[in-house]
Amino acid sequence: MENRENWGSRLGFIMAAAGSAVGLGNIWKFPFTAGQNGGGAFVLVYLFFVAIIGFSVMLTEFAVGRRRSLAAVGAFKSVDRRWTFAGVLGVLSGFLIMGFYPVVGGWALAYVFKVPMGLLNNPDTIGDTFGGFITGKTAPLMWMVVYLALNIAIVAKGVSSGIEKAGKILMPILFSILIIIAIKGLTLPGAMAGMEFLFKPDFSKLNGGVVLAALGQAFFSLSLGMGCMITYGSYLSKEENLAENAAIVTAMDTGVALLAGIAMFPAMFAFGMEPAAGPGLVFVVVPTIFAKMGGAGMMFATLFFVALTTAALTSSVSLLEVVVAYLIDEKKFSRVNAVLSSSAVMAVLCVLASLSLGGTGPKLFGFGSFDIFDLLTDKIFLAIGGMLLCIFTGWVLKKDELKEEITNGGKIAFPLFDIWYGLVKFVIPVTILLVAISGIMDGFKSGSGAIMVMGVIIIGIFAAISKKL
Ligand code: TRP
Repeated sequence: MENRENWGSRLGFIMAAAGSAVGLGNIWKFPFTAGQNGGGAFVLVYLFFVAIIGFSVMLTEFAVGRRRSLAAVGAFKSVDRRWTFAGVLGVLSGFLIMGFYPVVGGWALAYVFKVPMGLLNNPDTIGDTFGGFITGKTAPLMWMVVYLALNIAIVAKGVSSGIEKAGKILMPILFSILIIIAIKGLTLPGAMAGMEFLFKPDFSKLNGGVVLAALGQAFFSLSLGMGCMITYGSYLSKEENLAENAAIVTAMDTGVALLAGIAMFPAMFAFGMEPAAGPGLVFVVVPTIFAKMGGAGMMFATLFFVALTTAALTSSVSLLEVVVAYLIDEKKFSRVNAVLSSSAVMAVLCVLASLSLGGTGPKLFGFGSFDIFDLLTDKIFLAIGGMLLCIFTGWVLKKDELKEEITNGGKIAFPLFDIWYGLVKFVIPVTILLVAISGIMDGFKSGSGAIMVMGVIIIGIFAAISKKL
């Protein structure tokens, strides 16, 4: 416990936690998920979940992690062995998210090179180029491997030296470029329809599936529900104000997601593209906007994909770190062995995920690996992981102990403590349960219900064998 590595500085922690949160989830996933779920109403529900559930769960993860000074699994296990499964579930989520995240990270990395090599010369073919690229067999795999290797290098170096530095430099750049894109997009003719789509709620579009998608997006984007912020919190100094840190990270993450939406939708509507276009959205909209700007456009587009790749990296290293910390703390692996063995498994999952986009490989209920990994994690494992953490915190941990941790032993005030506690103990678990049930029921209309039920069964099996984990 005494030898735990610590964050180099206050800013270092915020940048690393925000670096974990801000990633492909904000810039790639949020816009296309909002598009597929009807826009405004989805966005409103998402914001509501972020404010009420996201912030509270993040504070819970920080508090539990720092209190126990142990990463995800140990934090549960050291209190009560029966709860080990809740931590191990997070490790499983880490493997599954890392089973597709590096595929998309690889696309971003590939675009760093494709843009200067002439991608923008012919704006009309940008969409087809993307479709052709990701459904191909070897090229996306090669980029995925390079991307994963970057993760391995960073995580193998350890916490403060690797992750912290990467986060500090490119986040401001990413933010600036998104603002440039947003301004450019908003000045195109017909752009306002995009703002309306994104911010004018049409409540007739709401159903169980959309609400669960919003909840899943909130968890995914904030890096919650799998022990990531527990692990980061465990490296956090006793002097830090947990609530303040959670508020800053939540606000930054949500700001970037909204900014990404504002950067994408006006331009899409101006270009006459479909809002439900899917995973290709950023990879098509951003190059198309910049293609119209000549030489400077090419430079900005390249810089955008450099920044996107970096944002993705600071997120995926946090996912890898959860798995690695588990292997080090619980299974007594050396750091290097932990990194290498876990990323070997992730690489295999990524190969399946990438090939599934071209229609190759196994299918389950009509879904390929990429979609299955995404569905299971985002909508089931993360949301239920968050629910379990709240039940554990509210019903197993002691209220006094939590208060002491969050107020740094009474040194700082947290006036919202009782509200937070009530949310964590009662409101959030019940809300997540209801949203999950209605979302799964809706999922049976599209076939995803069966996969989600499978996820719930997996959680049940983990719970049953918890003492062996
Ligand atoms: N939040 C990151 C993103 O938006 C992804 C991520 C990193 C994540 N760590 C996580 C998602 C832990 C869920 C759980 O890109």
